[in-house]
Amino acid sequence: MPDLAALYPHTRHAHIGLVVASGTLFMLRGIGVLCGARWSMQRSVRVLSQIIDIALLAAALLLLATLQLNPFAVPWLATKLVLLVVYIVLGSLALKRAPTRSARAGCLVAALAVFAYIVSVALAHHPLGVLKLMNPQM
Ligand code: HEM
Repeated sequence: MPDLAALYPHTRHAHIGLVVASGTLFMLRGIGVLCGARWSMQRSVRVLSQIIDIALLAAALLLLATLQLNPFAVPWLATKLVLLVVYIVLGSLALKRAPTRSARAGCLVAALAVFAYIVSVALAHHPLGVLKLMNPQM
């Protein structure tokens, strides 16, 4: 059985690195779709994006196991999970499913805003995220 506690700093760094990779690739693909760039939806790029997202979630699961946290019982983690679903839906609309270019642009901006808010929830360890970071008394 691997020593999860000893791996914790690496797992956390991997999670954060994959967050950066996932967010950056999504933003570039979203801009690419709006510009009509074909590479955005190419199979190789879609597969790369899926691999990064699966690895990100695997690192999240490893962190939960290491810290022995139940994401449904810890408010900031439950908030992350709900917002992750919102982000996935908005992301799918932004890259493919929204009917018009302007709708895709709106969904891209909304998805990136939700993503940034998830990061702030993670940093604050609090569902209020950025609001809590700006006002620690809350
Ligand atoms: C788009 C999705 C996600 C983003 C942007 C994200 C972002 C982050 C960031 C920036 C950190 C570092 C926080 C710090 O410096 O302390 C972090 C840590 C963490 N994340 Fe995520 N995360 C995401 C998904 C998830 C999911 C789905 C879970 C599980 C429910 C999760 C569980 C954790 C845990 C347990 C930590 C470690 C907190 C600690 O070390 O105290 N993350 N996340």
